Amino acid sequence: MAYESKILGVGSFVPAKAYTNFDLEKMLDTSDEWIQQRTGIIKRHWVEGNVSNTDLAVEACKEAMEKAKVSHDDIDMIIFATLSPDHDFPGNACFLQEKLNIPAGIAALDIRQQCTGFVYGLSIADQFIKSGQYKNILLVGSEVHSKGLDRTPEGRNVSVLFGDGAGAAVIGRSDGESKVFGSLLHADGRFAKELWVAAPGTGNEEGERISTNMLDKKLHYPYMNGRQVFTHAVKRMAESLSTLMASHKMSIDDVDLFLFHQANIRINDKVAEILEIDSSKVFNTIADYGNTTAATIPIGMNDALKAGKLERGMVVGIAAFGAGFTWGSNIIVY
Ligand code: COA
Repeated sequence: MAYESKILGVGSFVPAKAYTNFDLEKMLDTSDEWIQQRTGIIKRHWVEGNVSNTDLAVEACKEAMEKAKVSHDDIDMIIFATLSPDHDFPGNACFLQEKLNIPAGIAALDIRQQCTGFVYGLSIADQFIKSGQYKNILLVGSEVHSKGLDRTPEGRNVSVLFGDGAGAAVIGRSDGESKVFGSLLHADGRFAKELWVAAPGTGNEEGERISTNMLDKKLHYPYMNGRQVFTHAVKRMAESLSTLMASHKMSIDDVDLFLFHQANIRINDKVAEILEIDSSKVFNTIADYGNTTAATIPIGMNDALKAGKLERGMVVGIAAFGAGFTWGSNIIVY
């Protein structure tokens, strides 16, 4: 028997402490004006002390499960999208399972698609629901970037962009109008080193996973070719979404709301311009959270729900782009 999948409930969480651009002026050689003009970011939230990635995820998942009206006993798979896990291994899905007291025996999967993590995860969840193998999948995107950023003037081009946060959704069987229409997933590994963290890693030339030399060279911090990422993000997000809409014989007018990955407001404005989307249909949250990578889409979805911009029955177009390069899109009826 074939099933359709739908989003049963959404949750999100960001740590309490917010850092405005003015706060960053004191730490990095930057300015509120530069950050706002170039990116649209006004503040981001960063964890304090020993708060971990899965600590944020727990809060987002509890809200999502409550709204979905499912208990921890009902979850039969966890898909965890992150680039900043609690530990190198095992994956965050296992740590989250333990923290949420989800019974032993379920499937737990970590995926590493960075800013495209939620889009990939939604497509994977959709396939498992459609096949009938699982009934209630907990999909979470969560990041603690702050502990992995070079928060000195040398790292300013990357550090100002990223925030900590988590977003989650319970994906289950559809019993009506709401459903995941379809998804497109893409990657181009030729650009893997245009946005990456080299160390620790077994692929380093030195033959070591990590060394003091690598730390001295700051290889454990992200490197980003901002312009290259910007150009590809605009092109690929627009391309994926328009192809997906065309394959479902949909036009821009058929879509009620667009949730794009939140990396830079100028990227999203360009995508909207290319696809001729009225800006009132694009829901952005970057001003408040910066780029929370795998968490941007579910955080945006939850904020749109809270703001009354998203309701059951609305058609939502989703697109994201990130390191890899990876990118993709989903169309859902919420
Ligand atoms: N504060 C102040 N000045 C900064 C700065 C900061 N935080 N970061 C960089 N600068 C300076 C640079 O040193 C450079 O100075 P110079 O002209 O004297 O050399 C100048 O600003 C312009 O830098 P540039 O990198 O060319 O700026 P840009 O217009 O390309 O904007 C980004 C930079 C990062 C905002 C932009 O490229 C971007 O958003 N790219 C996509 C990033 C992204 O999406 N990443 C996540 C992927 S999902």
